[in-house]
Amino acid sequence: MAGCECPVLAGKTALVTGGGRGIGAATALALAQAGADVAVAARTEAEVQSVAEQVRALGRRSVAVCCDLAREDECLRAVEEASRELGGVAILVNNAGTARFAPMWETTGADFGLHMNLNLAAAFHCSRAVLPSMMAARSGWIVNVASSSGKKPYPKQGLYCASKAALIMLSKCMALELRDHGIRVHAVCPGAVDTRMSDQVHPERHRQGWIQPEDVASTILHLLAMPPHIATDEISVRRFMADPL
Ligand SMILES: NC(=O)c1ccc[n+]([C@@H]2O[C@H](COP(=O)([O-])OP(=O)(O)OC[C@H]3O[C@@H](n4cnc5c(N)ncnc54)[C@H](OP(=O)(O)O)[C@@H]3O)[C@@H](O)[C@H]2O)c1
Repeated sequence: MAGCECPVLAGKTALVTGGGRGIGAATALALAQAGADVAVAARTEAEVQSVAEQVRALGRRSVAVCCDLAREDECLRAVEEASRELGGVAILVNNAGTARFAPMWETTGADFGLHMNLNLAAAFHCSRAVLPSMMAARSGWIVNVASSSGKKPYPKQGLYCASKAALIMLSKCMALELRDHGIRVHAVCPGAVDTRMSDQVHPERHRQGWIQPEDVASTILHLLAMPPHIATDEISVRRFMADPL
C-alpha cells in the first residue's frame, strides 16, 4: 500500500507523533506518498526537520513540531500547530512511545509516570484535541501504535506491557464511541521492530528477519485504505518465524 497515491487520503492532513525516526518516520513518508500533508512531531529538532523535508521532497506540505508529548500542554500545542499550518487533522497516528525494560523492583515512580504519560496519555490528549475538527467533518482516522507487549506479558516489561494494554483498550472504547461520528480508530500491535528503541531494549538480539519500520507503515496505510463498511480494531504484525500471539 505504501508508495502509491491513495484517493481517500490525498490532500488530507496527517499528524504523526514520534515521527522523527523509526516507525513514525516511515509512516510519515508513506502517508506523504499516499498524498497526505504531514505534520511530524517529536523532541529532536534535527530529526523532525529532516523528515519534514523528505515529506516536502515528495511534493506534500509538512510542518515539523518540536515537542515533549509526555506533557499534556505539548500534545495540545502539537495538534494546534499541525492544524494551523496544514489544516484540520484528518489522520492522527499516535506513535510516540518509550520503553525501559527492567525488573519491577528496579523501576521507579518516574518510570511509571513516563510510560503512562507518553505511551497512553499522549494518545488520549492528542486524540481529544483532534476530535472537534474530525467530528465537524464527520470523518477521521486515529491509529494508535501499541505493541505485541500489550497483548502478552513479558518479563522486565511490566510498565511497557501495562501502558500498551491500556492503549489497546482505550482504542476499542474510542472506536465504539466515535463510530457514530464517522471516525475510525485502530490499534496496531507489532512485535519487535528494527529501530533505535530495539537497539536500546534488545541490544543482544540479532535482527535477521525482523519487522522493518516500513512494514508497520504499510500496515497502517492498509488500515486507512480499508473499505468504509468494515473495520479492524487491532492488527498484530509479527516476524514470520515468531509465535502467533
Ligand atoms: N521497536 C519496536 O520493537 C516496537 C515494537 C512494537 C511497538 N513499538 C512502538 O512503536 C512506536 C515507535 O517506536 P520506534 O520503535 O519507532 O522507536 P524510535 O525509533 O525510538 O522512535 C520513537 C519516536 O518517538 C519519539 N519520542 C520519544 N519520546 C518522546 C517524547 N517525550 N515526546 C515526543 N516524542 C517522543 C522519538 O523522538 P525523540 O526522542 O526525538 O522525542 C522518536 O521520534 C512506540 O510507541 C513503540 O512503543 C515499537
